[in-house]
Amino acid sequence: MRAISRRAALTGALGLLGGTLLGSTGGCANPSRDQTAQLLASTTPLPERFTVPFVVPPVKQPVARAGGASAYEIVQRRAVLEILPGRQTEVLGYDGLLPGPTIVAPRGEQVTVTHHNELYLPTVVHLHGGHTAAASDGYPTDLLLPATSPTGRRHSGHAHTTGGTSGVVAQGSRPYVYGNNQPAATLWYHDHRMDFTGPQVWRGLAGLYLITNEAEQDLCLPAGDRDLPVMIMDRAFAADGSLAYPSLDPRLLETPGVRDPYTAGVLGDVILVNGRPWPELEVDAARYRLRIVNASNARRYRLGLSPGPTGGGAPFLQVGSDGGLLAAPLAQDEILVAPAERFDVVVDFGAYPVGTEVVLTNVLGLGSTDAVMRFRVVRSVRDESRVPEHLARLEPLQTAPDTPVREWRFTRGGAGGPAHWVINGRAFDPDRMDAWPRLDQTEIWRFSSDLHHPVHVHLSPFQVLRRGSDGPGRWDAGWKDTVDLTPTETVEVAIRFTDHAGRFMLHCHNLEHEDMMMMAAFETVA
Ligand code: C2O
Ligand code: CU
Repeated sequence: MRAISRRAALTGALGLLGGTLLGSTGGCANPSRDQTAQLLASTTPLPERFTVPFVVPPVKQPVARAGGASAYEIVQRRAVLEILPGRQTEVLGYDGLLPGPTIVAPRGEQVTVTHHNELYLPTVVHLHGGHTAAASDGYPTDLLLPATSPTGRRHSGHAHTTGGTSGVVAQGSRPYVYGNNQPAATLWYHDHRMDFTGPQVWRGLAGLYLITNEAEQDLCLPAGDRDLPVMIMDRAFAADGSLAYPSLDPRLLETPGVRDPYTAGVLGDVILVNGRPWPELEVDAARYRLRIVNASNARRYRLGLSPGPTGGGAPFLQVGSDGGLLAAPLAQDEILVAPAERFDVVVDFGAYPVGTEVVLTNVLGLGSTDAVMRFRVVRSVRDESRVPEHLARLEPLQTAPDTPVREWRFTRGGAGGPAHWVINGRAFDPDRMDAWPRLDQTEIWRFSSDLHHPVHVHLSPFQVLRRGSDGPGRWDAGWKDTVDLTPTETVEVAIRFTDHAGRFMLHCHNLEHEDMMMMAAFETVA
C-alpha cells in the first residue's frame, strides 16, 4: 500500500467535497446527491453541440461462422481519430476504434473473440453482462500482455503489495469464448485490467455486444435503422486534442490511481455518443429503439427529452434493462442511468411535428453536460413497428426466510486511507475469495453504501427486491447486473448463479473506485 500522510488524507477529503459540490451553483443544501466524482475540464475549446452527425459503430464480421459457432479477431491498437472536429486524438481502441466494433451474437451461438494486443501495456477483456465461464470472464489479473513486451511482467500496481500471483497470463493474443446462453440483451465489452481499468476505458477500450433472438425479433419492436445504440461516455480533452486523464502514472505501467482531487471519480465536460461529441441524428416521425449504455467512468445521467411528446405522455417506453427485455413496457418520464447500466427504450418521434428538434437532455448535467444529443424529425412515414403489452417471460427469483443473505458494504477508506475504496472494509486481493455461493441456489445480496456506488456483479444477473424500506425503485425493473446505490442507501437483490463454477467478481463500476481496490472476488461452487 502507498503510505498516505495525514496531509494527503485531509486533501483527499477536501477533494471529495470539491467533487460532490460539482453541479451546485452555490447554496446547494445537499451537494452529494448527484455525483461522487470531480470534473476534469477540457483545456481545448469545445465544439458547438449538435453539429456532428450521429454514427453507429460498425458491426464486426466474423472470420468464420459454421455449426452454431463463430470466430472473430480484434486487434487492440493505438489510432489517431478525429473525435472533436478538426482535432486529432490518440486512442487505445479495439480495432483502433472508439467505441470498438459491435459484435452481434444470436442467442446460443458460441462466439470466440481472439484479441491481439498490439498496445504497449497489459489488457484484460470483460464482457459486461455476459454469462461467461471463468476462464474467459476477464479476471483482472488474467492479463493479455502485448506481443512485444518482455515475458515475465505479470502485474504492476497494487498486485505488488497484495502478492497476487494467480492470474492466467497470455502474451500477444488470447481467445475469449462466449456461450451466449442468455436472453437477447444489450451488453458491452471493456478493459478490466487490475488497477488501470479507468484510464484504459477512458482512452477507448470499450465496445458494444448485442445478443439477439428470434422471439425478440418477432415482437415487431423498431428494428434496422430504427434500432440504435446510444453509448454515452463523458471525456475531457487537453489543449493538443489528446484525451486528458489525471493518472498518477500517465504511462499506466506502475503506479495506479489518479491525482487529488479526482480520487472520487473523473468526470469530463464533453459528452460523446458512439464516440462523437453531442451528435445530431435525422429521424423519421416513427418509433425508434434506443439502446442506452452508460460507458462513462463515473458520471450518472438523468435523461429526458425536450420538448416532450406533443399531447403529453411519457417520452420513453422502457422495454429492456441490463439483462434483456422487461416483462412489459414501462412508461418513464426520465431515465436515470449510472455507470455501466443499460436501458432499452422506445421513443415515438411520430408524436412530434416534422421539423421538431428534440434534445436528449441530462438533468444532472450543468453547462456543456446538460445535453447528450439531438434528434431532428425530418419526414413522416408509415410505421409498422409496435410495442406489445407482453415482451418476455421473466421468472421471478423466489426467496424464503432461510434464503442465505450476504452483506456487501461499499465505503471510502479502509487501511489504504481516503484515496482507497473498499468492500466490507477490505481492499481487493485477487487471491482472496470473499464468498463461495452455490450454483443454482438463490441468495439475497444486501449492498450498502456511503456515497454513490454503481454495484456490478459478474456471471449472473439479479432482481432488485428492496431499496431501503421500499420495494424496487422506478429504474430497477427487470434483470439487472449493475445497480445504482445512492449515498447511505441499502439495496437488496435476489441472485442465482448458474452453470459456471469458478472465480468471479463484484465491484463498484465507478472505475476510479474500482481501480482503487473497490472489488471483491467470489468463487461459485457446484
Ligand atoms: Cu463492466 Cu467487472 O465490469
Ligand atoms: Cu464506488
